[in-house]
Amino acid sequence: MSLKLNRSTFGDPKNAGNVISKEEAEQLLNDWVKNERLKLHMKQVAHLMKSWAADKEQLSEADQWRWEMAGLLHDADWDQWPEQHCKKIIEELENQNIDPEIIRAIASHGPEHFGVEPISKMDKMLFAFDELSGLIHAYSLMRPEGYAGMELKGVKKRFKEKNFAANVSREEIADAMNRAGVELDHIIQFIIERQGSVK
Ligand SMILES: [Fe+2]
Repeated sequence: MSLKLNRSTFGDPKNAGNVISKEEAEQLLNDWVKNERLKLHMKQVAHLMKSWAADKEQLSEADQWRWEMAGLLHDADWDQWPEQHCKKIIEELENQNIDPEIIRAIASHGPEHFGVEPISKMDKMLFAFDELSGLIHAYSLMRPEGYAGMELKGVKKRFKEKNFAANVSREEIADAMNRAGVELDHIIQFIIERQGSVK
């Protein structure tokens, strides 16, 4: 099964600046995603994207919202249409005339799977956070104290264990770090500090 999108442009440039409202985004998630674990994953990635846009990129509130929405909706079609993953949510957002940069970030969050290269910083950070966020959350679930007191070295130890969160590709994470030009340790620390607050 190929998830390749076989296209390189997404959305319509005239829709730049059109974002989805909080209510509309929540409605879409509730309609499309029944799996609570997946919903939490998307909320976590949304929070990481927004926090990064604000604190590391010093972007405007409007841009922070675009980053947050790309994070929140990136896996929205995975629950019900895994064989159409990415294609379905992209088409939905195109039909809703959503900002093309949000759609492009979603389309490029797995270059090996979807065949779309991350170009903008938003694209690259979504790819960088996605898998790593999942690995760190898996680690929090096996710690009695969850995120409290979690340390970089504990995460790195799990990262090196092939059998831990075995479905999380370490190669893909390394590739994402390279493309984003960020240090693995720095991103892990950022996730440790931010992700635990998301419920
Ligand atoms: Fe994801």
